[in-house]
Order: sequence, then C-alpha cells, then structure tokens
Amino acid sequence: MSIPVITLGGVASAFVPGLEQLRGPVTVVRRCEDLAELVAACQSGLARAVILAPGAAELTVSLITRLHFSGVVVVVLSEHAAAPGAEAVEGVVYVDQGVAPAALADAVSRAVEQFEAEDPPPRGSLAFADPFDVPQPARATLVDTAGPPGDGRVVAVWGPVGSPGRTTVAINMAAELAAAGTSTLLVDADTYAASVGACLGLLDESAGLAQACRIADQGGFSPAALDRIAVSVAIKGGRLRVLTGITRADRWPEVRPAALGHVLEAARSLAEVTVIDCGFCLEADEELSFDTLAPRRNGATLRCLEVADVVLAVGGADAIGVPRMVKALTELVEIVPTSTPRVVFNKVRVAAVGRSPETQLQEAWARFGPAMDIAAFLPIDHAAADQALLAGTALLETAPASPLRHAIAELADVPPKDARRRRSRRSTRNVKFPSNPARLRE
Ligand SMILES: Nc1ncnc2c1ncn2[C@@H]1O[C@H](COP(=O)(O)OP(=O)(O)O)[C@@H](O)[C@H]1O
Ligand SMILES: [Mg+2]
Repeated sequence: MSIPVITLGGVASAFVPGLEQLRGPVTVVRRCEDLAELVAACQSGLARAVILAPGAAELTVSLITRLHFSGVVVVVLSEHAAAPGAEAVEGVVYVDQGVAPAALADAVSRAVEQFEAEDPPPRGSLAFADPFDVPQPARATLVDTAGPPGDGRVVAVWGPVGSPGRTTVAINMAAELAAAGTSTLLVDADTYAASVGACLGLLDESAGLAQACRIADQGGFSPAALDRIAVSVAIKGGRLRVLTGITRADRWPEVRPAALGHVLEAARSLAEVTVIDCGFCLEADEELSFDTLAPRRNGATLRCLEVADVVLAVGGADAIGVPRMVKALTELVEIVPTSTPRVVFNKVRVAAVGRSPETQLQEAWARFGPAMDIAAFLPIDHAAADQALLAGTALLETAPASPLRHAIAELADVPPKDARRRRSRRSTRNVKFPSNPARLRE
C-alpha cells in the first residue's frame, strides 16, 4: 500500500508532480499552507509521513513528539542534509532539497518502515502529560544519593488545592539537603503561582524554568546548560541550585511537558537530588480534550509527577485539608498510576484538630483515607515561617531550632544532629472531623 504523505511549504509542494509520476511508494494526500493545518491533518490520521520545506516550521521537540504520537514520520528538506549540525533535531529525517523525487520517496518509505519497526509509543494513554515519553517506574526511598551520574533522584512536592505549604516544604527540604552536602536542585514548576524565587529573595526576572524549557525544546539540552541557567544560592555553607518559575502566570504555555521532561533528565545528571515545587491541579478532563495539540496548563504538573521517584503529597492538617487530600490522592493514583505518593500533613495544630493532633489525624486517616501511611506531621509554626519569609531564606538559617525545621529535615532524611522534637502542651477546644465518611470523600 502506498504511504500517504502531506507536504508543507513551496519547496515541498514542488516535489508533488514528480512524486505522483512515480505512482508509489508514496501518495501525496494533501498540500498544507500552514503548520496548524498540517498538524490537524496528521491528528486526523490522514498521513504516515510529512515532508517539510526548509524553514516551513520551527522544529521543536514538542512538535516532533506530537507528530510522532499521531503516527507520522517527519522528513525535512534541507540545504545541509549531509551535515545538519547544530540544527539537527532528534527524530527528524533530513533529505537534501536537491534530491530527485524517486530518492525522496525512497527516503520517506525507509523512514516510515524504521519508525514502525521500533517499539510503538503508548498511544492513547491519556493520563500522561506527554504521551510519547513513558515515565520510568518510581523508586522507593526518598534520598538515596549513592547512584552514578544521571541517576539523581527527583522528589515532587505536590498537594491539593489551597495553600497547604508545598513551597515551604520544597524550599526547606532542598535547603536541608544542600546544607548537608548533597548536590541539590530546586525547581519551581508551579504554573499557577510560582513563588520559590520570591520566598528566597531572588530578584530573578529571567524565569529559569521557561528559559531551560525553551532551550530543551530546540533539542540538545545538557546538564551544563542547566547549570548555567540555575541560580546558585548559598545556604549555611552549602550551595543550592534554583531554577526559578514563570514570572507571570500567563506564561504557563512556555513550560511544555516534553521540554520539561528533558530538563528533568538533565537535572538527574546535574544534581543528586532534584526537588520540584509542583502546581496542585491535575484536571483529567483537560487531558481528554480532542484538541491534543493545545498546550495544557497542568501538563507540567503531570510531567513532574510521572517523572518523580517520590511524590510528597502535602495537605493541610484540618477538617478542610484532610478531605481534600483524600480526593487529590484518589485522582493522583488514577491519573498517574506509576506515582508513589507519601502523605505529609502540614500546619498540624491543636486548635484545628483537637488534643493530640497527630493521633486524631492518624485516626481520621485510618477511617477515611486511602490505604497509605502518613509519612510526616509538620507542626504549625507561624513565627518561624514568617521569619524565614521575611529574611528570604530557609528555616535552617532563621529558625534552626524550630520544630518545623526539625520535622522537615527529618522528612528529607537529614535530621540535624541536635534534633529533638518539641511538642506543644497547649490544649484548646476539641474540633472533630465530620463523622460522615461521605462528606470526606466529596
Ligand atoms: N507549618 C507551617 N506553619 C506556619 N506557617 C506555614 C507553615 N507552612 C507554611 N506556612 C505558611 O503558609 C503560607 C502558604 O505556604 P506555601 O508554602 O506558600 O503554600 P503553597 O505552596 O502550598 O501554596 C505561607 O505564608 C507559609 O509561610
Ligand atoms: Mg506554592
């Protein structure tokens, strides 16, 4: 059967009469005028290959991934086909634009054959942020830094809607690790409310993550490039690398999932541990949209959750936070089944939960929560949290003895030597969780 092909751009359409005269092995089914038309035609399953004129489209990793996911091979006519050099994008077949139609048809059919002989991508796996990239299975422990380069661990700090303290946990975990001598990268991937830069007092308008994604999208991203873009922050004798988030919420389309995947891959080589401050939303409905090329705001969060070795699910320790956590974890397990969440309750306080708040939370969780242990309880500590915010640094610098700092250090598996957890002796009114489980699962 002849291979259906779509062309884009004048130089490519000039080949159409020549290809038609051959009567196989390719058939031009459409000549497109612009990229949007080409992508739509590919997504409708019309073609198995596209032939692009030089400069007809910006060849980004995201575009190539999308076309591959539609089962389409990308052939580009080029002036420098023999040595495309720095412009070469992975997954693209370059053919000299001066080639004869028969040789072009031959190159297309060989590329299609090879593409189809390779392992097919997991098509239709709608749960994944970038369906072309299969996430690696998550590993078990939180910080195991003994691995070879390229084997750094990725910890995603995520949590339900609200402000349960994801950024606070991410910054302070990363700071504890860096101060303990672990090479650490902190990435702000919250596409709704990036705040790591502000919390650390960084006057960085460059939006490191967007910059890194832009370069990664052109192909050839490296750990050295990531090191150049990341800001270096001194923390108690240690060095923390920080990739700041988008400076304006409307810049979220710049954080493309495929490119972010490459950035995180480079992060594994650059740092022993990468801590990501994620957004909160998953919104599966958006994933089911027919317009699969439309950028998806939650794609970045999904990508992080897929790639992470460990997901820390941070929730508020009160009657609002617990049901939100139950709901969020149910969604997480459905949408990213490869993730291994660890439940962390933050802002634990007597006033919101009642006497012995940890026991109360444990009991409520055992009754209503999914079958997952609670990994940590982080106490509320307004004075310590505010002091750190004001100083634009981590708790270990402004409130090293605070119970909150100690609890986060323990969570990062680097407990300070003098770690001694303080417990509040205050007792206030006993606020109970709703007794009706249905309310908690709403
Ligand atoms: N354990 C805590 N005790 C007191 N205040 C906290 C604690 N954790 C976080 N906060 C404060 O709560 C607010 C929201 O925290 P943040 O980490 O920005 O949440 P998120 O990233 O989930 O939106 C911040 O002002 C922060 O200082
Ligand atoms: Mg935040």
